[in-house]
Amino acid sequence: MFESGIRRATGDDLDALVAIEQACFEPPCCYSRRQFSALLASKHSLCLVEEGEGRMRGFVIVRFRAGSRTAHVETLDVDGAWRGRGIARRLLAAAEEACRERGMHRLQLEVSTGNARALALYEKVGYRRVEAITDYYQFPHHGSRDVYRMVKELT
Ligand SMILES: CC(C)(COP(=O)(O)OP(=O)(O)OC[C@H]1O[C@@H](n2cnc3c(N)ncnc32)[C@H](O)[C@@H]1OP(=O)(O)O)[C@@H](O)C(=O)NCCC(=O)NCCS
Repeated sequence: MFESGIRRATGDDLDALVAIEQACFEPPCCYSRRQFSALLASKHSLCLVEEGEGRMRGFVIVRFRAGSRTAHVETLDVDGAWRGRGIARRLLAAAEEACRERGMHRLQLEVSTGNARALALYEKVGYRRVEAITDYYQFPHHGSRDVYRMVKELT
């Protein structure tokens, strides 16, 4: 179903997911092992991982709400050693495809106003800023508690 190197995560991926998350975000901003475990078990979420050279290099988690055609990109992480090679872009494309197949009409996400890389990525792949929200996070992410809400229509 997904392009080569991308697959759905399983419980066996927990260690690798936690390791990449902790390298991307410092506590208390990172998801805990327990939260990953719950996300993997939920029928309302989808976790896709990208593998290459024998290891997980990145992942994306999307959540769904009952009765809503808007899916939510919960998090997107690429191992620091593998950035700038199009892995995030491929993960987002695979997530979009899965969302279309599930009947979703749009993807939404919130990104810290301080996260220039992620903002550049999302804009490049077609997300548009629809709202600026102050004090969205309890703790700063990339130096800011404010976010942009971004949306991509899945036509
Ligand atoms: C943001 C992140 C997911 C990007 O992953 P990536 O695999 O390096 O991204 P890609 O290689 O697919 O890049 C796609 C586009 O994103 C943008 N981009 C990625 N890295 C960038 C950088 N360092 N500076 C500017 N733009 C960048 C570019 O537009 C790039 O397109 P291009 O290659 O045609 O120039 C990665 O840096 C990351 O994991 N960061 C830490 C976790 C995080 O902040 N996640 C987002 C939470 S909202």
